[in-house]
Amino acid sequence: METTLYDLGVTAGDVFLEISYLLAAIFFVIGLKLMSHPESARKGNFWAASGMGLAMITTLFLHRDASGNLISLTNGMVVVISIIFGGILGTIVAKRIKMTAMPQLVSIFNATGGAASALVALMEYSNPINESALVTLLGLVIGTIAFSGSMVAYGKLDGKIGDIFAKWTTYFNLFLLAVIAAIMVYMLAFDHSMATQITLSYVLLVVALIYGIMFVMPIGGADMPVVISLLNSLTGIAAAMAGFIYNNQAMILGGIFVGSAGSILTLLMCKAMNRSLINVIVGAFGGGGAGINKEQGNIKEITLSDAAVLLSYSQKVVIVPGYGLAVAQAQHVCNELVKLLEGKGVEVKFAIHPVAGRMPGHMNVLLAEADVPYTKLVEMDDINPDMPNTDVTVVIGANDVVNPAAYDDPSSPIYGMPIIDAHESKNTIVMKRGMGKGYAGIENSLFFEDKTRMLFGNAKDSLQKLVSEIKEL
Ligand code: TAP
Repeated sequence: METTLYDLGVTAGDVFLEISYLLAAIFFVIGLKLMSHPESARKGNFWAASGMGLAMITTLFLHRDASGNLISLTNGMVVVISIIFGGILGTIVAKRIKMTAMPQLVSIFNATGGAASALVALMEYSNPINESALVTLLGLVIGTIAFSGSMVAYGKLDGKIGDIFAKWTTYFNLFLLAVIAAIMVYMLAFDHSMATQITLSYVLLVVALIYGIMFVMPIGGADMPVVISLLNSLTGIAAAMAGFIYNNQAMILGGIFVGSAGSILTLLMCKAMNRSLINVIVGAFGGGGAGINKEQGNIKEITLSDAAVLLSYSQKVVIVPGYGLAVAQAQHVCNELVKLLEGKGVEVKFAIHPVAGRMPGHMNVLLAEADVPYTKLVEMDDINPDMPNTDVTVVIGANDVVNPAAYDDPSSPIYGMPIIDAHESKNTIVMKRGMGKGYAGIENSLFFEDKTRMLFGNAKDSLQKLVSEIKEL
């Protein structure tokens, strides 16, 4: 007689659950694809969230444990209450967070993702029916590192923790990694009593916690985005490991997507900074460095009316937006300036540096908020060849991303990082409040160049005054 799935104990619910996971995976892929362009990114988020929602609902009603039982009413209630509580908290935080604090939020999300996976691994390690000891331990270690590392990253981005770097940190971190590996081998290769195994899993947790802290602590300056993206990918890998523990395809796939997207972004950012990942991790970027704060000469200011004339009678203007534009929330008035200049026949473009601001895509999101058309945003590599033909470059609240020290000062911590070649243009106007330094904490020789004029003040105020001045011409 022919054996059917039903004879094997497979119910229609099981089949439906697997199909829902497949659908969720398809939704994730569509979501990721749409997220690769700012115009469709919102839709992408919606697709991915719908996939996750579907997987959560079908798991809640159809998932069966190893003994074949569905989730009990009590456990189901705990899950539903947690989802409602987490959902409300997430919505409030996401609605309240300022655009400039988005990287901090991302770090906290990474930390919670890592912690959740580590807790799953810690709980399941002592579960006798769990047969994937290696995967569980890896999930515990990677999730814990993602958690403590992301908390330190949050503290640093929020200015609560400074960079602590000494030569010994690299060696100490290598030592910690060796300890982690040794404990894991000891746990996996020898038979221990359950009590010993549980004690060792807690020891592993503590060492991984310390490693996460020590791994992120020395990293600073322009390397933070790379580290955040790396931690994001670790969170994804830890979630995939947790998925393996439960043999849950949606969790495995979701984790792999996050892990691979994070890894690709990490490598792309390293490429954008012209640095290797190892160099980022052990390099302690953004700290001191010889000669980085030396006096560079005199600066020259420009009056609002001179700036208005210079811009109005130019043919080609390039705007370099940076972190200060986001702080000042000057994106709307900036777009007003663009429209005004275009009305006078001036060609205006935005030069977008991959790490301008404080998060990947920060300037794209900021300018999209002000309805600046995407066609006006030109990536660094595409606009740089055009910079010598640019009549005026207007640097608004940007600093590190236009610092020529990246080319000509080997002692500078940003040496080797690609920049927007504002110094190549015929004239440069720099809008900032004073002579404050950028994220890397170093002087910028562009401000002292002959062709550069400073327009001091809050970016929003300066732009508003400039707009009125141009209107009166
Ligand atoms: P920064 O180098 O950080 O410089 C921003 C400048 O804006 C400051 O020098 C500041 O000078 C000025 N500013 C601040 N508030 C202002 C305001 N209200 N009005 C006018 N100016 C204001 O910015 P950037 O060029 O965009 O470079 C980004 C840096 O952050 C890079 O080093 C990058 O590696 C790092 N980073 C990037 C990311 C990502 S993923 N984008 C994440 C973390 C770190 P004053 O004080 O004189 O006004």
